[in-house]
Amino acid sequence: MKEFSKDKDKIAIIGMGYVGLPLSLLLARNYSVIGFDVDASRIEKMQEGTATISEPGVSELMNDTEVKQNITYSSNPDDLKNAKVKIVTVGTPYESKIDYIDYSQIYGALEIISGKINRGDIIILKSTVPPGTTNGIVKDKLENLGFQVPEDIGLSFSPERIVEGQAVNDFKSLPKIIGASDPETLNTCSEIIGSLGGKVIKVSSIETAEMIKMVDNYSRFVFLGLTNEFALISEKVGVDVLELINAAKDNYPRNSGLLLPGPGVGGSCLNKDPYILRAHMKKNGLTLKMVECATYVNSNMPYHVCELVERYAVNRKNLTILGVAFKGDTNDTRFTPAYQIYNYLNDKGFKITLSDPYVSDSKFHIEKNEFAALRNSDIMLILTDHRQYKGMELKMLTDIMNKNALIIDTRGLIHRNEAIKYGFEYHGLGRL
Ligand SMILES: NC(=O)c1ccc[n+]([C@@H]2O[C@H](COP(=O)([O-])OP(=O)(O)OC[C@H]3O[C@@H](n4cnc5c(N)ncnc54)[C@H](O)[C@@H]3O)[C@@H](O)[C@H]2O)c1
Repeated sequence: MKEFSKDKDKIAIIGMGYVGLPLSLLLARNYSVIGFDVDASRIEKMQEGTATISEPGVSELMNDTEVKQNITYSSNPDDLKNAKVKIVTVGTPYESKIDYIDYSQIYGALEIISGKINRGDIIILKSTVPPGTTNGIVKDKLENLGFQVPEDIGLSFSPERIVEGQAVNDFKSLPKIIGASDPETLNTCSEIIGSLGGKVIKVSSIETAEMIKMVDNYSRFVFLGLTNEFALISEKVGVDVLELINAAKDNYPRNSGLLLPGPGVGGSCLNKDPYILRAHMKKNGLTLKMVECATYVNSNMPYHVCELVERYAVNRKNLTILGVAFKGDTNDTRFTPAYQIYNYLNDKGFKITLSDPYVSDSKFHIEKNEFAALRNSDIMLILTDHRQYKGMELKMLTDIMNKNALIIDTRGLIHRNEAIKYGFEYHGLGRL
């Protein structure tokens, strides 16, 4: 009953954001797909062939002939009626001020699909949620509508593990975790999600699948706290944190989890997933400790970077910030440390130009071209690891930037010796 016929049946993706858009395009290589979002203006852009996110490979997929034939974009809920498989990829924000997990988009999505479900349909939740949500909120809603899980409707959770800036490649290669309400649903979901590429890992329960996503991001957040602390230690003891971490990892599997430090932890996922797990466990009588330590270190990093700028700037005041996005090769600025750093240094009297090739913002002027942004600048502060900043033409910069310019490199993208050779003063995060 929950078998899926590639020729007859359709898949709907509900929530066409950073996850939903690339996922629907990649599924459209093999299946008939409806990309649905409540944001009609976003859908209109997609219908015109315009990507609403800046993500390598997405525009190309949108304009691929085969993909175009297999996908329709819609903000009309009636179009969901024909989709036997409905994949929910809406946001699950966290309200830090009130320590609250905001499920409103999930409730909204369930409300929209509630009149469009038929017996034999499958619902796959991909939005990140604490364990128990799929068999709680989602299953309850289906049962309130008069459907039994798994007799009438198959339910599955498959965590989304992509990283922005490399989403398309991640979708094609990362292992796919699948938990489901019953073996038939598990098999159908494995076939559909597995068609993207990468190993399929079937787990014994939906809760295990939900918990794996928590493990991914909770541990990443804690490892970032650890590596940011190594950067602070390196500055005190006079070693280079990049050399330290790369050498410590080299051929030594026990250190393989070490990450590189940065100017602050941005992005919507790492700024909520550890906290939604903490909030959920608090309700279950368990106080999580690791998240507190990591928050303490990670949230101080933007201020530490400001302190480095103030320490080395001396009388230099014209500052160019390279990179506003929270990570390389994306336009996503959610929880980016760049604005925090901008506001702090702006209050301290620095004259700041922001630059990012991908980001536009109605509140700030952001110069797309880094060379234009660096003209007559005294200080280059690199915050984002955009590919084009790596190994920049320093010789050319000597003509553009002011004399005796300072480079503060929080991502290790510029060679120190090269910078010094061309007359720059160079300091890196964890590599003074
Ligand atoms: N962004 C990532 O790299 C990433 C990675 C892994 C997991 N996740 C998780 O995936 C989920 C989605 O993240 P995102 O970054 O794509 O979010 P997003 O905000 O970019 O996209 C969410 C989309 O859902 C739409 N939406 C909201 N309510 C809706 C409704 N009722 N019906 C239909 N559409 C609705 C919004 O208009 C928006 O387009 C989150 O739970 C997130 O934690 C994200």
